[in-house]
Amino acid sequence: MLPESLDYLAIRPEGIYLDATAGLGGHTGAIARLLSTGKVLSCDRDPESLKLARANTMDVAPRIQFFHSKFSSLDQTVEHAGFGKVDGLLADLGVSRFQLTDTARGFSFMTEGPLDMRMDQSHGESADDLVNQSAEKALADWIYQIGEERRARKIARAIVRSRPIRSTLHLAGVVERAVPRTGPMHPATRTFMALRILVNGEREELGSLLEIAPRLIRGGGRLVVISFMSSEDRAVKEKFRALAKDGIGTILTKRPIEPTEEEVRRNPPSRSAKLRAMEITGESAAGGNYGDDGNIF
Ligand SMILES: C[S@@+](CC[C@H](N)C(=O)[O-])C[C@H]1O[C@@H](n2cnc3c(N)ncnc32)[C@H](O)[C@@H]1O
Repeated sequence: MLPESLDYLAIRPEGIYLDATAGLGGHTGAIARLLSTGKVLSCDRDPESLKLARANTMDVAPRIQFFHSKFSSLDQTVEHAGFGKVDGLLADLGVSRFQLTDTARGFSFMTEGPLDMRMDQSHGESADDLVNQSAEKALADWIYQIGEERRARKIARAIVRSRPIRSTLHLAGVVERAVPRTGPMHPATRTFMALRILVNGEREELGSLLEIAPRLIRGGGRLVVISFMSSEDRAVKEKFRALAKDGIGTILTKRPIEPTEEEVRRNPPSRSAKLRAMEITGESAAGGNYGDDGNIF
C-alpha cells in the first residue's frame, strides 16, 4: 500500500517524517525520494532489518536517519533526533518478508529453524522459553485468546506432552498431529501467530504507539497505520475515534483502505492489509496544547 501511504502522508518536500517500521526500507526510501530539504527518521526494533533498510536506500542516504527504536520508545527517539514534532508518522505493522523467510529467526512453520520469533534478538524471552516453560493453562489461554484458535486446549496439551520442543518444524508437527488440517490453512498458523504476538509484546507495543504518536505529530500532520490482523485494525479504529472525539485529530479514512486487486495479485500476503489515516488537529484550532496523557488542556 505504498502509493496510498504516500497520499495519506501528504508528503511536503521540506517535511520531517517518521517511519516507525523501517522493515526493508520500502516506505522509507519512497518518502525520502519525495523530499528536498526534509528528512525521514526511520526506526525499527530489529537491528538486522535496519541494516537491510540502509542498504536498500543508499541512493537517498543523506535524507534518512536510522534509529534502533521500538514503538514504546519513539518519544525519546524523536527527542534525541532533535527536529521537534514531525509532519507525518507511518507504521506498517507486523513482520517483514525478510523476517518471515530468514530461517534463523524462527517465525515460519514451513521451514526448520530455532524457536525464537523475537524481532529484536538482543534481549527478551524467545518462543522457546514460552513453549517449553509455560503452564499448560497459560499456553491454552494465549493460543485461544491471542491466536483465536478454537482447538487451543488440545494444542496446549500436546505441546506440554512433547516437551522439550526445540525447533519450528518440531512444534508445527506437534500441532498438526494434535489438530489435523480442516481447510487450506496450516493447523499451526494461529499457534505461531499467538506466540509471535506474545514474544514481541505486540499488543502492548501497538497501544504505546497509538498513545505516543499524536503527541509527536505537529498540527496538520498525518498519522498513517497499516495493520494485518483484525484485532489490530480494531484497536486503531477505536483509538482514532477516541482521538477525534477529543478534538485531537480528524479521521481521513471513514472505512479502512484496502489494497487494490492488482497489488493483491502481485503480493498475496497484502490481501489482509487495512490502512487508516488521521490528520492531527492544529494546536490553535484545537484550542490548546497536548498534555502528557495525550489529552488537550
Ligand atoms: C511489515 S514490516 C515493514 C515493511 C516496511 N514498511 C517496508 O517498506 O519495507 C514491519 C516492520 O516493523 C518492525 N516492527 C514491528 N513491531 C515493531 C515495534 N513495536 N517497534 C519497532 N519496530 C517494529 C518489524 O521489525 C518489521 O521490520
